[in-house]
Order: sequence, then C-alpha cells, then structure tokens
Amino acid sequence: MTVDDAIKALSPQALKLVKNNYVIGLGSGRAATAIVRLLSAYLKKNNFSVKSIPTSLQIKMEAENGHIPIIEPDQIDHIDIVFDGADQIDASGNMIKGGGGALLREKILIGMAKKTVIIADETKFVKKLNKRVPVEVHPFARNTAAIKIRKLGGKPHIRLLERGYPFVTENGNIILDCDFGTIPNPRTLATKVIEIAGVMEVGIFPKPDIIYKAKENGKFEIL
Ligand code: A5P
Repeated sequence: MTVDDAIKALSPQALKLVKNNYVIGLGSGRAATAIVRLLSAYLKKNNFSVKSIPTSLQIKMEAENGHIPIIEPDQIDHIDIVFDGADQIDASGNMIKGGGGALLREKILIGMAKKTVIIADETKFVKKLNKRVPVEVHPFARNTAAIKIRKLGGKPHIRLLERGYPFVTENGNIILDCDFGTIPNPRTLATKVIEIAGVMEVGIFPKPDIIYKAKENGKFEIL
C-alpha cells in the first residue's frame, strides 16, 4: 500500500465535489497529478463538461493528456474548486507550498476559488511550520529582497537546478527558499515578506476548506 493507493481511495469522495459546468483550478505536483488523472476518468464517466485552469505546464500537459478542457484565467469570473497538494501543513492548517515553483499561480487560483481541496501525504503534517519558505522574487530584486528577508530573520537560498543554473519560474522569476526556522505565526510572516519590493509571492498559504491526509497504509483522513 502506498500514498498513491490512498489518493485513489479518497478520490471518489473528493471528486464528488465536482459538478457539471464547473471551473476547476489545477494545482501542481505529485498529488495534483494523481487527482487530475482520476478527474479525467470521473468527467468521462459522468459525461461532465468542465473548464480547467492549470497552474503550470506540468499539470497543463496532464490535463491535455486526460482531455480536460483548458481555459485562460482571464476568460473566467469565478473558480468553483481547486485541487492541489502541499509541502507542509501545521496544526492550524497553514501551509507551505511552492516546492515545484508554482506558488504564484496556485495562490492566484486558491484566492479566487469557492472551495480549495488539498491532498497531502502524512509526512507533510507538523505541529508548526519549519520548512524553507519559497519566495518568488523578480530577478531585479534578487539581492535587495534577500537583504530584506535577512532583516526579517530569514536565511534566503536561491533555488538552483541540479547543474547549478538558477531555477526560473514560469513567470520569469527566481525563487529564494528562505529558512525562518520554526514559524510561530505564519500569517504575520507572510504579510511582512509580501511587503518587500520585488517579492511576487510567498509560499505561505492559509487554511484550505478541505484537507485529505493520504497515509502510507493506503487509507486516508479528512481534516
Ligand atoms: C507546487 O509548486 C507546489 O506548491 C506543490 O503543490 C507542492 O510542492 C506539493 O507537491 P507534491 O504533491 O508533489 O508533494
């Protein structure tokens, strides 16, 4: 039994939230990929017509493979539901996201969605957030934003690809993965970081509507 089995087990319940004609935001990463594959089958089975907005090329290709119609965000006036994963979730439901670099688009869709559903394996759950926080920064502010982040007590590390080249997001920005140690008040920290000039988005997300905890024994919990 694996986490993927747990995602399969929880999907009938999670996908029941999808109705005909829905506008669906698709997050990025492994959990989002798993649910998009299952969503494709669910839509076919129910003969539902929906529109989807992917948050990355990775998930766009999954949606295309599954023949899920795609629409641009400027063609919609609402989003019914977003399915996404998370990198870390604290006891209050605050999340760190952006491990794959899609945080800006994920934040935009989640901020607009009527309902956000997060699927994460049990290793992601902690009492307090303590993972490095991905901060998307305009390349012009690479140094200036890093100085300000240090003043807030963070240690910024520019995200690099395996061969040492800087990681560039799909929005043409860089990512500073910032170590703030344990984060007692994620919301306050996010507000301070977003105020820094050149910061495009911060990978601290508020509590979603529904969290599915996928377990390694193939079972799941709803939080
Ligand atoms: C993408 O940038 C992220 O926000 C992902 O949602 C997050 O990294 C979780 O990914 P996994 O489902 O692959 O763990």
